[in-house]
Amino acid sequence: MSSSAPVGVFDSGVGGLSVLAELRRELPHEDVLYLGDTAHVPYGDRSEEDVIDLTERAVAALEARGVKAVVVACNTAAAFSLSRVRSRFAFPVIGLVPAVKPAAQATRTGRVAVLATPVTLKGQLMKDVIRDHAEPLGVEVTGVVNLKLVPLVEAGHADSPEARAELRATLAPLRDAGVDQLVLGCTHYPFLAPAIHAEFGDTFTLVDSGAGVARHTRRVLEQGQLLNAQTTPGTVTYLVTGSVEAATPVIAALSATPLTAMPRTENGH
Ligand code: SIN
Repeated sequence: MSSSAPVGVFDSGVGGLSVLAELRRELPHEDVLYLGDTAHVPYGDRSEEDVIDLTERAVAALEARGVKAVVVACNTAAAFSLSRVRSRFAFPVIGLVPAVKPAAQATRTGRVAVLATPVTLKGQLMKDVIRDHAEPLGVEVTGVVNLKLVPLVEAGHADSPEARAELRATLAPLRDAGVDQLVLGCTHYPFLAPAIHAEFGDTFTLVDSGAGVARHTRRVLEQGQLLNAQTTPGTVTYLVTGSVEAATPVIAALSATPLTAMPRTENGH
């Protein structure tokens, strides 16, 4: 495996751009190949088998392009596919876990909510982080789903009246129940932060896994002696499985969106 090869980043669509932004901050000299499966997004209401199959196909496509490691920058894909993908491919595969740990440590009300897809919420990774990091602290974790949010981000409408209405309906009950930490358990959701702040002010501290996974990727590359030695800025190449015309303006807009720095998170992968 050559250290000058690119790092592959895979997401169901454009949500992984929030992770890509953190990877570029942490690893500015790495070349990145970003693959968005925009022909099949959203993954959120697909079966486990479907998600595993699509994830394996995407990682195989990145392998064929010579990547040295892959970041599965999609919580839904990571929830069920990580062990399968790791056993099939020879390079390191890094996945995302919802950032329940820092949220459980920071909550002052003892109530944390995770906004994620049904696949992510019922996956083993989710059960493990709750058992290991929330239950010992007596913190109550509530899963909450809104399947309209990912398509809105994909369409470039992350801060639209429609997105705000969906967020109001989904998050108001959490505010009323005293939740103070909102885990963004899907890589599309950091792009909703401006709309959440506009609707709810500082009611929720938003917590995601992007910065944690970027630091973990650095450690994995270091351990495998795979860090790129080039001193010039790395490049990013975008691949999408759906329409390039539709994806291009959305990728451009989201890549230019400044993401708020999130609290430090630990990632177990
Ligand atoms: C989706 O494609 O529906 C969700 C992506 C994610 O969980 O990060």
